[in-house]
Amino acid sequence: MAEKTVYIETYGCQMNFADSEVVGSILGNAGYTVSDTIGEADFVLINTCAIRDNAEQRIRKRVRELKASQSRRPQLRIGILGCMAERLQSQLMVEEENVSFVVGPDSYRKLPEILQQVAKGRKMAETELSTTETYADIEPVRMGGNGISAYISIMRGCQNYCAYCVVPYTRGRERSRDPETIVAEAKALYHNGYKEVTLLGQNVNSYNFNGVGFPELMAMVAEVSPRMRVRFATSHPKDLSDSLLQTMAAHDNICRCVHLPVQSGSNRMLKLMNRHYTAEWYLDRIDAIKRYVPDCSITTDVIAGFCTETEEDHQATLEMFRRVRYDYAYMFKFSMRPDTYAAKHLQDDIPDEIKTRRLEEIIALQGQIALENNRLEIGKEYEVLVEGPSHRSDAQYFGRNSQNKVLVFDRHDVQPGQYVKVRVTDCTAATLKGELIQ
Ligand code: SAH
Ligand code: SF4
Ligand code: F3S
Repeated sequence: MAEKTVYIETYGCQMNFADSEVVGSILGNAGYTVSDTIGEADFVLINTCAIRDNAEQRIRKRVRELKASQSRRPQLRIGILGCMAERLQSQLMVEEENVSFVVGPDSYRKLPEILQQVAKGRKMAETELSTTETYADIEPVRMGGNGISAYISIMRGCQNYCAYCVVPYTRGRERSRDPETIVAEAKALYHNGYKEVTLLGQNVNSYNFNGVGFPELMAMVAEVSPRMRVRFATSHPKDLSDSLLQTMAAHDNICRCVHLPVQSGSNRMLKLMNRHYTAEWYLDRIDAIKRYVPDCSITTDVIAGFCTETEEDHQATLEMFRRVRYDYAYMFKFSMRPDTYAAKHLQDDIPDEIKTRRLEEIIALQGQIALENNRLEIGKEYEVLVEGPSHRSDAQYFGRNSQNKVLVFDRHDVQPGQYVKVRVTDCTAATLKGELIQ
């Protein structure tokens, strides 16, 4: 029988992209061809996100669109992986009748067996969560990447139970991966020409494997090579330690960028969200970052219109943005998720128009701050890791500096994967423009 072909489509956060690479590896080792186009696929695997209702709606729309491909090719089977699979389990196959299998994030090792059954016409659901699975021994296949920058998943799950968040229910208990396997993966990437790794977890600061904590792990990975950059995401403000900041300060190749989701600037909201810090604590952590790593950029996530949010709470969020002056922010309208503390105990009582207006005010303020921050960069020189041709023009390349800011510059004869020096000459709120200086 000819080899069967699998096509994987990924939605959601970086962890989902990292998981799709694990899935690609598991299926590749089982003799499947992993294709980067849907064309000849026998199986389409959609790795899904459940974080907000609109994420789920988008995926459902995509699943329904695939009916057209299925009517042309009746052997085509569709499976749902990831967080939506875990949240909805076999009910998803009832609601979306063209879906043949549903596989949660801790069951990917079973995929080869599941696909065999599904090919025979069965419907399958595997959604058991594990307390130990980390896929530590699986070498991910790097799909759709640039050959320069790769993700390494260092832990799975989350048990912080922020009141709005579905992740603890879709990803299960927190567990850390053996540091030896993480360092081995980083070394293998470096030897294959990669220049940057991003260590991923929902709350990397609580990484702990037999006493090895996150600062020690960061140092181990940073020491693989001074020419390989190390990034990490995401840090929970309650757990961001001075010791991590000291480790960053001691290693030039640990990137000068901390993503520190604030969620709200109001202490009343932070308490209701179960975030375990106050605005004052958060600002103290910002001061600590600036003290240890003065050239660090700071980015965040924020939610507008969480349950009971008043105008005063919203003003406190805007004030937080003015105080911290983030370089970038992911800004969201609150979306009530089933099973969460909020769904069980609170009301989604902020009308959509008000959520939208508050979100727009945050977006407008942040746009202005990002532009002002970028203007201060004009004249500065940065080491930039070249990633590829700019999206706007082939005559230009783009890359990032250690602060994770995108710089665009004239091409000359540089290659992707090379480090170059660039002087900033101009900017927008989103990009720095510059010229090569060596
Ligand atoms: N583990 C990370 C974030 C994971 S989800 C952390 O704790 O920071 C990414 C972001 O989605 C969150 O930081 C939050 O801002 C947003 N988010 C999560 N649940 C949401 C919801 N129900 N509605 C709107 N935004 C949400
Ligand atoms: Fe969700 Fe909170 Fe865990 Fe982040 S820390 S994944 S927001 S529960
Ligand atoms: Fe979405 Fe799951 Fe990530 S809900 S944000 S894909 S952990």
